[in-house]
Amino acid sequence: MSRSRVGLIGFGTVGAAVYEQIQTNLWERFEVARVAVRDRGKARPAEIEDLLCDAQYLVQADDVDIVVEVIGGIHPAIDLIKLALTQGKRVVTANKELIARHYDELIAFGGDLRFEAAVAGGIPVIQVLRTLAQTNRITSIHGILNGTTNFILTEMETRQSELEPILKEAQAMGYAEADPTADVDGFDAMYKIAILGAIASGEQLDLETIPRSGIREISLTKMREAAEHERRIKLVASWTRESGARVTCQALPLDHPLSQVDGVMNAVTIEGDFMPTLTLIGPGAGGRPTSSAICGDLVAE
Ligand SMILES: NC(=O)c1ccc[n+]([C@@H]2O[C@H](COP(=O)([O-])OP(=O)(O)OC[C@H]3O[C@@H](n4cnc5c(N)ncnc54)[C@H](OP(=O)(O)O)[C@@H]3O)[C@@H](O)[C@H]2O)c1
Repeated sequence: MSRSRVGLIGFGTVGAAVYEQIQTNLWERFEVARVAVRDRGKARPAEIEDLLCDAQYLVQADDVDIVVEVIGGIHPAIDLIKLALTQGKRVVTANKELIARHYDELIAFGGDLRFEAAVAGGIPVIQVLRTLAQTNRITSIHGILNGTTNFILTEMETRQSELEPILKEAQAMGYAEADPTADVDGFDAMYKIAILGAIASGEQLDLETIPRSGIREISLTKMREAAEHERRIKLVASWTRESGARVTCQALPLDHPLSQVDGVMNAVTIEGDFMPTLTLIGPGAGGRPTSSAICGDLVAE
């Protein structure tokens, strides 16, 4: 049986992990045929050098059957994705902002677009939610969808520290970006809950109307007050059929399924009319978990 040929746009944290996973576990069914990056001058593994080409060329190349987009941002990602879909190729992306902002447009565009890795990294939440949405009237989704902020909140609590020093450490360790706005101010969690809300409701959510607060206003005093009431503060992204989506810090009771999720882990609870609370928990980011979700989209029917 001939192998499906993958074109990888992006060879950073996620792209390199996808390459490694295909080489290690999927080599009988898939081969990486081409790779596109922004800076051709950067040092890459020798076997990658031979595969490098321009991203526009890659999506149209006859020797690429499936395109994996792991560059992030809106442009040029959306144009490359559309071009690949137009060629009749499956496209797999981890790009949450792009899917959240252009959900309706991309669904209407048609073609085989997969984005499991865009929400909650290695947790196969989109697959589970899609199945449940066909059999249930989904009533609510709640999630800890941003590992960086959950790590910071957990460290603040464990080490009884204010936010700023922990954020600086997280940046030094590579857990937080130099510009932490997307994580700390709740944008990343908002994109992810908007995608889940769109799948549950069948239509794109208006990002401008989603109430959003990040973790900047969380102090040690607030954490201690919550602890006195047997609660823990978490950044929770929610969607309910009645109220839509929101991203807010909440003091969750200790028996709440999300309250015990610590560090960089993610978790999602889903409720439907025939489905009491289902909780999925697992690694929400990182090269390998995200690659696992991408490879799941490669092998999916
Ligand atoms: N990192 C995670 O844990 C994680 C988790 C879930 C989802 N994601 C999503 O996965 C995507 C990639 O994230 P990442 O962490 O792997 O990013 P990254 O480490 O910054 O890597 C980005 C890669 O894309 C390449 N690139 C950027 N612009 C390009 C362009 N115009 N044409 C061709 N290549 C281009 C870069 O090239 P150079 O190597 O030349 O710079 C680099 O190889 C993003 O959408 C992100 O939101 C990431």
